[in-house]
Amino acid sequence: MTPGSKTGTTRRSFLGKMATAALAAGATPHLLSASDRREVEVLPSRPFQSVNDQIQLAVIGAGGMGMTDVDTALEVPGVKLVAACDCYAGRLEDARKKHGRDLFTTRDYREVLARDDVDAVIVGTPDHWHARISAEALQAGKAVYCEKPMVHSIPQGQEVIRAQEGSGKTFQVGSQGMSSLGNEKAKELFEEGAIGELNYAEGFWARNDPVGAWQYDIPKDASEETVDWDMFLGEATQRPFDPLRIFRWRNYRDYGTGVSGDLFVHLFSSLHFIVSSNGPKTIMAQGGLRYWKDGREVPDILLGMFDYPGGATHTPFNLSLRVNFVDGTSGSTYLRLVGNEGAMDITWTEVVLRRNKVSGPTDVFTRMKGMEMESVQSRRKQMLPPAESVYVAEGGYLGAHFDHFMNFFEGVRKGTPVREDALFGLRAAAPALACNNSYFDERIVHWNAEEMKVR
Ligand SMILES: NC(=O)c1ccc[n+]([C@@H]2O[C@H](COP(=O)([O-])OP(=O)(O)OC[C@H]3O[C@@H](n4cnc5c(N)ncnc54)[C@H](O)[C@@H]3O)[C@@H](O)[C@H]2O)c1
Repeated sequence: MTPGSKTGTTRRSFLGKMATAALAAGATPHLLSASDRREVEVLPSRPFQSVNDQIQLAVIGAGGMGMTDVDTALEVPGVKLVAACDCYAGRLEDARKKHGRDLFTTRDYREVLARDDVDAVIVGTPDHWHARISAEALQAGKAVYCEKPMVHSIPQGQEVIRAQEGSGKTFQVGSQGMSSLGNEKAKELFEEGAIGELNYAEGFWARNDPVGAWQYDIPKDASEETVDWDMFLGEATQRPFDPLRIFRWRNYRDYGTGVSGDLFVHLFSSLHFIVSSNGPKTIMAQGGLRYWKDGREVPDILLGMFDYPGGATHTPFNLSLRVNFVDGTSGSTYLRLVGNEGAMDITWTEVVLRRNKVSGPTDVFTRMKGMEMESVQSRRKQMLPPAESVYVAEGGYLGAHFDHFMNFFEGVRKGTPVREDALFGLRAAAPALACNNSYFDERIVHWNAEEMKVR
């Protein structure tokens, strides 16, 4: 791509829209007064779809996220939960209490896949089971909503891709931000050239509490009677029963994928969707276990650096991602895209666009230099467009999670493509998993995102 070629047209289209919005400003209640140079636009929610036929759903891995997925899935009209599977009896009892005693429950997921009355399954198990259960479910003719990250290791990706292609069934990975109004608006703005040419992006996830750092309670009745230990382990290394390993599975590399597989993967999904990228070419990570030294095998602080090659949709750029589980400011996350003409802060419900053409420099040296130059090149003052535009989801928005399930069930009903299929899922998971390889092996990982191969 020649520098400026993409931006030339797209920027004009962004500026055109800005002008239209400005014309409409008098009649548009969501535009704030020009005096604060801040414009707010409300993003409308999607309308409900009408429903003709019911989808029968099962959940495999009926823990925290699996059952949150069920709650959201059942908000979509025409969906019924018919079965739940978990290798811990307490989860099955909870599911029966909530969804009725006639709910079919089992510790063995294969019994769910063998049922004719199940159209779709949610895979909400720990990461080490995602690929295998998803592939078997697809082969059994079920549509699959698989929690992120799609795979526990990069080579498993091809197995899931083949299973999706071979079955022709709908397969969606559960990075729900992908379907959010925030991501969609950011994509639209990016493609219109609102920030010019992308050269840098960054994302961050901060926590500072035991639950956020994965120190979950261990149920009092946890034992070899209430837990099917072999079913939990699957193909992982055989070990004697250890409740910490199943109830705090994220801390162990045999089952979890560390902070990068858990959290970076959301940021990769959003980023790749917004800028239509297949992924980075080089990946390097550093970090450490600084505070939560409870026997875990993974760092609680991780920094990742990624080099994205240019392509048809964006210029080359660098990405920096961080997770910090020992952050005194706590509880924050963001994704920021920086271009030569502005930047966007993106969440699933809001996009804040700042345009550097209209905001003054913030650091003192640039300001001083500017004043010095102003004195010799005095210029006429300009009319200023808004320096900051804020796009917010309208009140009552049901959220990214709901939208992602709507998208999934629409795929199941109509056979339409979903937001995050297996190809996309692998391209989002692989750089996150490669961070672990880089961190533990102390090396740079070279990734061919087109062919989906580590070089
Ligand atoms: N999309 C999101 O925002 C989001 C948020 C949280 C978790 N997740 C993902 O959801 C998955 C589950 O995370 P969680 O926090 O719910 O964990 P969790 O421990 O609360 O739930 C996992 C459940 O799976 C069960 N399980 C383990 N092996 C099984 C097997 N072979 N068969 C049946 N059940 C089995 C466990 O007993 C447990 O109840 C993870 O992959 C995680 O990355 C996604």
